[in-house]
This record gives sequence, C-alpha cells and structure tokens, in this order.
Amino acid sequence: MKGHILGVRNLTTTETEQLFDLARSLKHDRHTRQPAPLRGLSIGLLFQHPSLRTKASFDIAIHELGAHPVYFSNEEVRMGTRETPEDVARVLSRYVAAIVARLRSHKELERFAAASTVPVINALTDFEHPCQALADLLTIKEVFGSLEGNHLAFVGDADNNVATSLLLIAPKLGVRFTLIAPHGYQPRAAVLQQAMADGNALVTVVDTPDQADLASVNILYTDVWVSMGQEEEQHRRKEDLRDYQINHALLCRCRSDCIVLHCLPAKRGQEITSDVLEGPHSRVFDQAENRLHIQKALLQMVLAKE
Ligand code: CP
Repeated sequence: MKGHILGVRNLTTTETEQLFDLARSLKHDRHTRQPAPLRGLSIGLLFQHPSLRTKASFDIAIHELGAHPVYFSNEEVRMGTRETPEDVARVLSRYVAAIVARLRSHKELERFAAASTVPVINALTDFEHPCQALADLLTIKEVFGSLEGNHLAFVGDADNNVATSLLLIAPKLGVRFTLIAPHGYQPRAAVLQQAMADGNALVTVVDTPDQADLASVNILYTDVWVSMGQEEEQHRRKEDLRDYQINHALLCRCRSDCIVLHCLPAKRGQEITSDVLEGPHSRVFDQAENRLHIQKALLQMVLAKE
C-alpha cells in the first residue's frame, strides 16, 4: 500500500483483504499488551464537519498505536478563507506523519492531497466515506464469515458518500448490491459504471422496494436522508424519501437472518424506525465499534511503508 486513501479504489483487493485480517487481529488483541508500531509519530486530524465516531475512533486508534493525535477544527484553520488547501497541506506535512481529513468537498481533498507530502486519509467528503465502508464490510465478514454470496440492499439516498463507497467496493469483493432509491437519489452514472466494471457480483438499481428481490437480501443498509451540507434541502428530501424507510414490514420481506446496518447518526422515524434500529437484527453498534479496528489497521498499513 502506498500514498493517500481518498477513496476505496485506492486499495487493491489483496490490500483490502490484508486490512480485514489485520483489523480482526488488532480487535482480538486489543486488551492484551501490544507493541506500539507508530511510537514517536504525530498524526493530524483535520475536520471541517462535526463528528463523533470518526474523530473519537481515529483519536483512540492513533493513541493505541503509540502515536500522538493532533486535532485541528475548521474554526481555527478556516481552510479556503484563511489559507489555501495547498498551503495547509504543505505546512502540516512538515509536522505530522499522516493527515486524516474530513473535508466538505472531495475536490478540495484532492487539491489538499496533491500538495501533501505525507499520506492523507479521507475521513468523509461529499463524495466518499471509505473508512465507513471498510468498517461495514468487516462487520459483514464477522457476521456471515465471508463477503462473497451476501446480498446488500441500500435503501434511501443511494447517491450519498456512504452508498458511493460501498457501491465502489462491495460488489468488487463479491457482495451482490441492490440500490433502492427514487429518481434523483440513484447513484451517478460514472459511479455505477465503475462499480459494474470492477464488480464480481450483480449490481441492480430499482425505483421502489417492490421492484427488488428482497427475499434474497441478508443485509439492509440505510443512512440519513439529509447529509451534512444538505440542510437547506431537508424539506424536499424528507418528502422525496418518505417511502424509503427501513422498518419492520420491509425487514420481514428479507431473509430471516437479515442484519440491519446504519452508519449513524440516525434519525429514528425517518430513514429507520426505532424498533428496527434497537431490534435483534441490528448490528449498528458493532459497525460503529469496527470503525476503530479498521482505522487502526489502515493507519498501520499506510505508515508501514513510509
Ligand atoms: N458515521 C460517521 O462517520 O459518524 P460521525 O459523523 O459521527 O463521524
């Protein structure tokens, strides 16, 4: 593995499998005495959006690997107004061994990474959320033992960053992928074409749940209808997506061992009902925990060759 992780396609299939193995081993050994492979390094955390899971899990991952996390909020850096992305990247590269960046714009992340001389890891942009998708796939592997042969249905805004990262990696690893979304919320053509070209499993886009082969679905996934930065569209989005909820009725139409995933934070009563989120099929808190283990593995692999 070398360089930046701006999207899931920056990892080869072999590297992704190695990442899962390392994450599982780090998870297993977490509470026993461990070497600190990144001792002496500092790693920057640059966040333009709020975060609970990503900030906490990266901060703790860095600490547990023996390195020092340095957090920069948007309020103090004000990238784009106080300073250009290129200058921020060039300065931070002189201080830290890697930069974890949650930026509003993927294009800005690409500019930032092009100027950085240390690896940059995408902690969410308006286009991709690779760390989330990798943690989700680790969770699926834990539950079902493998990725091949599973059928994931993503319900709701299938053009958002989490759906995009999942679509670009899950079929490549053998997960059948169905996107259930109305027009205007379906994946953009270039992403869909890429997923189909890379994929080793069927990829299908349907307009309604009735058009999907729900009986074979063993993973139901959703995310909020209004992502960060889309607050001005919230009224229209809630109207457009009101029939795309994960609820008991939808779950009953899927395989009896179907699990429910959500990257969190969730809006109970909108994209998912509370009874399903809290019910026996839900794996959302295992998913949230796996953010820590997959990011520890990612940091270790990214920095191993530096
Ligand atoms: N799922 C996720 O990325 O959560 P945060 O926005 O809280 O980091």
